[in-house]
Amino acid sequence: MKLQDKNTIVTGGASGFGAGIVARFLEEGANVTIVDFDETAALAYMESLKSDRVHFEYADLADGKSVAELFDRLQTRWSRLDVLVNNAGTTHLPALLEDVSEKDFDKVFAVNAKSVYYTSKFAVPWMKQQAAGAIVNIASTAALSPRPHLTWYNASKGWMVTATKSMAIELASERIRVNAICPVAGETPLLASFMGSDTPETREKFLSSIPLGRFSTPKDIAATALYLASDEAAMITGVALEVDGGRCI
Ligand SMILES: NC(=O)c1ccc[n+]([C@@H]2O[C@H](COP(=O)([O-])OP(=O)(O)OC[C@H]3O[C@@H](n4cnc5c(N)ncnc54)[C@H](O)[C@@H]3O)[C@@H](O)[C@H]2O)c1
Repeated sequence: MKLQDKNTIVTGGASGFGAGIVARFLEEGANVTIVDFDETAALAYMESLKSDRVHFEYADLADGKSVAELFDRLQTRWSRLDVLVNNAGTTHLPALLEDVSEKDFDKVFAVNAKSVYYTSKFAVPWMKQQAAGAIVNIASTAALSPRPHLTWYNASKGWMVTATKSMAIELASERIRVNAICPVAGETPLLASFMGSDTPETREKFLSSIPLGRFSTPKDIAATALYLASDEAAMITGVALEVDGGRCI
């Protein structure tokens, strides 16, 4: 029960890594708000969780007004916020860097980078009031050891790592910890978009660069998010922790 009675937000909690984090946080006693723009998926997932400590809030995290309204509703519901997981993310399809459309570039940066600016505008003042809080940002090994043809996605995750370190140093005196997780390619619906096509050949190509010989899973990422969000990591801030089976060695 490492998060007993903690109020936690998991963005993109309807699918993939986020869904894994939601389930693990619930097992550890947390109250969890899933924030997602896929209401159908979120409600179906919540139904399967059979918990009265999870609830869903719609928000488009790439839209500042939508995020402001989200925090208005949350502040009516909760008197404090203990943990924020900025997990929602997206990618462009693999392409030569000069061929990625401006629309796709803007989408990637709006969801992967600007959403963190938006959630920080509300979550950080809230955590400052209570002089406590933990923020976990889901970055990627793409930030540390980029693959070709995903350049703008990789760069958005590099942004996430620098934002994490800068947030951590600025917020340390407020007793707010900020850390990032850098997962290697993982078994989620987003994987096919990274690979371009989900075939045995593309899977083999990705797997061949992971020394432990498998993709990451939502359970791997959830275990790491739990640790970084919990008091067990009380002395840890500003790290970008690879969960990558050795990919970045
Ligand atoms: N799967 C991988 O291989 C991998 C590897 C490294 C890092 N990551 C990162 O992990 C995070 C989670 O990815 P995933 O693989 O679980 O993806 P996913 O597609 O399974 O889940 C992403 C969730 O985010 C939600 N979302 C996307 N844009 C949103 C928006 N604008 N507003 C609200 N919700 C939005 C989606 O509806 C979905 O529920 C992302 O930040 C991704 O970049 C993924």
